[in-house]
Amino acid sequence: MGKIDFKPGNMLYPLPAVLVTVRDNAGKDNMITIAWTGTVCTNPPMLSISVRPERHSYQALTESGEFVVNLTTAAMTRALDFCGVRSGKNVDKFAMTGLTRIRSRKVQAPSIEESPVNIECRVRQMIPLGSHHMFLADVVHVTVDEKYMDEKGGFHLEKADPVVYSHGTYFDLGRSRGSFGFSVRKKKKRKS
Ligand SMILES: Cc1cc2nc3c(=O)[nH]c(=O)nc-3n(C[C@H](O)[C@H](O)[C@H](O)COP(=O)(O)O)c2cc1C
Repeated sequence: MGKIDFKPGNMLYPLPAVLVTVRDNAGKDNMITIAWTGTVCTNPPMLSISVRPERHSYQALTESGEFVVNLTTAAMTRALDFCGVRSGKNVDKFAMTGLTRIRSRKVQAPSIEESPVNIECRVRQMIPLGSHHMFLADVVHVTVDEKYMDEKGGFHLEKADPVVYSHGTYFDLGRSRGSFGFSVRKKKKRKS
């Protein structure tokens, strides 16, 4: 079996599909499903989202310069899909999905209560790329759901049943195959 040539395209999967919340200058909130997102820097903490200018949310993003990336779970999959196929121009996506809007700590855009992680962002730069414009943003605050914390202060996102997106389909995360550095970690000697 050999390799088949594919035309250059977006083949970087799986990805997180997130719900990005925005608030426009008139105070109207909206949610948009985004898969073109990624961490771009650890220190300072930065991420990017890429959005087509024709999206209703685009205006709120450019005029406010703020947004929240809300991570999604299996229980939120229907809402996640809905927010990616209906426009806030025509529907109130909070009312339609039943997701709960809560105040963010540092930005005007709301956070989603049901999300295990809410990443509050302020746009540093907008880069027009073509079909999508990339919003490079500083992470200015993060909140996490305390129910996924352990007694030692560790956070367990896997307990929230996160969803991933791959070639048009939403999937569960699956089981662990090892943790960071396991391939070189020395095995602890058993005490006899
Ligand atoms: C799984 C999924 C991922 C999506 N990812 C993006 C994306 O990264 N960028 C984008 O501009 N639109 C993306 N979309 C499409 C928008 O979410 C969709 O057009 C949405 O209805 C726009 O909402 P709005 O008009 O209220 O802003 C995605 C849709 C789905 C279902």
